[in-house]
Amino acid sequence: MKSIGARITVFYAITTTAILACLFVAGHYLLESYLIHQLDEINEAQFKHLKATLGPDYRTLTPSTVDDRIREATESASSLFYVDMHGPMTNRFFKSHNLQGHSIPDLVGQHTYSIDVDRIGELRVSEFLLPPFEVMVGTPLAPVYDLLAGYRKVFFGLLAAMLVASIVIGYVLSKLILRPVRVIQATANRIRSDNLNERIPVAEVKDEISQLARLLNQMFDRLETSFDEIRRFSADASHELKTPLSLVRLHAERLMINSDLDASQKESVQVQLEELARVGQIIDELLFLSRADARAITIDLVEQRPEAFLHGFEQDARVLAEHHGVKFVCDHRGEGTVAVDNKRIRQVLLNLLVNALNVSPPGGVINLESLLSDGVWRLSLVDDGPGLTPEQCEQIFERFVRLNPAGKDPHGSGLGLAISRSIVKLHKGDIRATSSDVGRGLRIVIELPAGNAIAWPAATI
Ligand SMILES: Nc1ncnc2c1ncn2[C@@H]1O[C@H](COP(=O)(O)OP(=O)(O)O)[C@@H](O)[C@H]1O
Ligand SMILES: [Mg+2]
Repeated sequence: MKSIGARITVFYAITTTAILACLFVAGHYLLESYLIHQLDEINEAQFKHLKATLGPDYRTLTPSTVDDRIREATESASSLFYVDMHGPMTNRFFKSHNLQGHSIPDLVGQHTYSIDVDRIGELRVSEFLLPPFEVMVGTPLAPVYDLLAGYRKVFFGLLAAMLVASIVIGYVLSKLILRPVRVIQATANRIRSDNLNERIPVAEVKDEISQLARLLNQMFDRLETSFDEIRRFSADASHELKTPLSLVRLHAERLMINSDLDASQKESVQVQLEELARVGQIIDELLFLSRADARAITIDLVEQRPEAFLHGFEQDARVLAEHHGVKFVCDHRGEGTVAVDNKRIRQVLLNLLVNALNVSPPGGVINLESLLSDGVWRLSLVDDGPGLTPEQCEQIFERFVRLNPAGKDPHGSGLGLAISRSIVKLHKGDIRATSSDVGRGLRIVIELPAGNAIAWPAATI
């Protein structure tokens, strides 16, 4: 059983039902002993009545007078008592009619006992001495057994009801006990590198669970401090690198312009400049990411119609695509406006476009589909490349992940999509990659919240 809740429920149900069963068994035993003891007392009372009816002079009476007196004493309660009286020679002296001629067997050495009498049933028998006679008074045990059978029936009914009730109570109890654990679980699950300041709510009471929550919060405090230090370090490092890099670049440019370098020397200075530009770009990207992690990036949201934004982007995208021998097609549907940071979303789309151009074959087509509907602006870029597996679709958004470093774009850093994701996140949107339709490459979908978009039919992107 994997769930603690289920274990608590089962444990509670079994324990309470077992306790109840033990109580009932003990009750059964005590009730049976009590009832049988009562029968013994009734038998004794009947014997005393018999003795009183016979009177003190019973030894001097004739057998027929004794017989009459005994009959007088026993006949009135003939359904309840069986009387068997015999003398010293064991020849029967008196037997009540209800014995139908049978004798009550005598168990040697026992004065009260239960015994089965032929055709009469089980009797509880008490043996008394009325010298020179032995008197055996018996009472049927059937009513006692009937009562015990009724008791058992009630017991099994109650046991079943108890089992059901204890399962319900155990379930509710386990839910109540585990509620703080679930709160811890949900909060711990939510805490990631970008919301490390969130903490588990700690209850006022000082129990084991609140202690655990406190310990976890202390651990999150330490983690947050370390993360902050790492972020500060990468921001500082990027910053510190930029100044010497600019100086090196400046010197290389001056070398290129002023000195009399031969062709091969000029070429190597050119390579240096290109590499410096690449390093500079990586530093900028790293700086952006560490500032985004530290939530130090602000976005400048401007309410606008997507058509206008896309029109501007389409112009540049088309030129860029043509340069690569690829066709760029853009299409927008839907009415309304969106609030986005123009520059940043453009940066995202350009990044996606460059990636798509890197994988598209000459003569291929890149489609940008835009749909504004139901409060969401959905942009979807589809290329003609080889596409990716579902695992790769998630991987590519991680930092420094380049699945094809030897591909067409040797200048890529593997940070473009990580930056795109953090920009989309700043807009409270979502970006994901999926394998596109059969025959096409990768589809990257961006969803941005758009407050006043009108519902548009056929949201197919
Ligand atoms: N449209 C695409 N089709 C196939 N693979 C892609 C596509 N876009 C991105 N990728 C893969 O994802 C990796 C990461 O992309 P990105 O973060 O933009 O970094 P970079 O472009 O600098 O390599 C790329 O190196 C590439 O392998
Ligand atoms: Mg890229």
